Amino acid sequence: MKTAVYPGTFDPITNGHIDIIERALKIFDKVIIAVSVDSTKNPLFTVEERIKMISEAVKDIQRIEIDSFSGLLVDYAKKTNAIAIIRGLRAVSDFEYEFQMALMNRRLNEKIETVFLMPNEKFTYLNSSIVREVVSLGGDISDFVPENVKNELKKK
Ligand code: COA
Repeated sequence: MKTAVYPGTFDPITNGHIDIIERALKIFDKVIIAVSVDSTKNPLFTVEERIKMISEAVKDIQRIEIDSFSGLLVDYAKKTNAIAIIRGLRAVSDFEYEFQMALMNRRLNEKIETVFLMPNEKFTYLNSSIVREVVSLGGDISDFVPENVKNELKKK
């Protein structure tokens, strides 16, 4: 049983994240979507709200678990018997930060590999902040997030 952890802030989850999850499931038997509790990003949604939105958004996808974590990601990965960390690489601009994180995580636990997956090109410009900004200014985000996430964003 090969398990991977897909960590992030997910404030909120977007179609780009879901694209990565589906790709990861082609390689791994199980993917744990792990919401970071310690995020310094001052999130719009609480961890509970983010988990609820993720659960609804991926309810038709099998072999997934949704959880939150605090502390070191590699410790969480070890605790859940994950052999890999999944990260999405959207553009060259992601690379430096991701490379640094991957090498630090390897230094902290060399048994856990980081696997980078490229989302569909239609999601390469997407991130959660830009979606929050577009919806707050009245723009249509239907192509970028699942329906339930769109509704929660509008409420906020
Ligand atoms: N599609 C759309 N958007 C995507 C995406 C995709 N495929 N992949 C990433 N993004 C967006 C995210 O929405 C996020 O947008 P935002 O900045 O507007 O919030 C941004 O790209 C990148 O963030 P995310 O993927 O959520 O990761 P993160 O950088 O917030 O998370 C952690 C980083 C949580 C994985 C990292 O801080 C961590 O591991 N923390 C635990 C502590 C630890 O172990 N630290 C040592 C690490 S070396």
